[in-house]
Amino acid sequence: MKPIFVIEHLEPQVWKWCAYEYEHISQTVGKENLWFTNVRRDGAALFKYGKVFRQSVRELNLQNICVLDPQAEKTLSPDETNKFDFFIFGGILGDYPPKKRTKKELTRFLPDAEKRNIGKRQLATDNAVYVVHEIVGGKKFEDLKFKQGATIRINEIESTDLPFRYALVDGKPFISEKVVNYLKRKKGF
Ligand SMILES: C[S@@+](CC[C@H](N)C(=O)[O-])C[C@H]1O[C@@H](n2cnc3c(N)ncnc32)[C@H](O)[C@@H]1O
Repeated sequence: MKPIFVIEHLEPQVWKWCAYEYEHISQTVGKENLWFTNVRRDGAALFKYGKVFRQSVRELNLQNICVLDPQAEKTLSPDETNKFDFFIFGGILGDYPPKKRTKKELTRFLPDAEKRNIGKRQLATDNAVYVVHEIVGGKKFEDLKFKQGATIRINEIESTDLPFRYALVDGKPFISEKVVNYLKRKKGF
């Protein structure tokens, strides 16, 4: 059985940036393998990307779950992924320096869950899902390639630096075109 990727939405709204990342996640794992939990408002925007729950993952009483938390001690390895039916991620936009929100707002409410990291550096949620999807597919974490930080060129004068870690896919940072265009629109004149 394929695992379900669960995004526990922990922002007050489904911001545009969140929605673009969630769409990217849906393209990565497939709509049928993706759940969004704790969606109190704006849920309609997400129906086309996966199954949407108003309840938190804490209330769903799921078994065989693995929470992805940068603060976890162990790194996820491909030979253990079979024992998990659900991989849980924080639907949290990156903050810098990281405020350990995953631990404070997600992991600590799931005491029976196994916890794993995918390195100690913070990845955007879509990147974290991509990496776990690759590990589920048999890749070792050590064999994946990353780049620290990405620069989005807004125009000839301006650019925005994103201080997160990005998986490299075919040598390019794994970042949604829609997020890039959104940042350009937001910052441009
Ligand atoms: C942008 S990160 C938010 C991290 C948050 N700033 C913190 O310090 O906990 C969004 C989600 O991706 C997953 N994630 C990102 N980087 C990770 C890592 N290195 N190890 C495990 N999970 C990670 C976690 O599920 C996290 O909640």
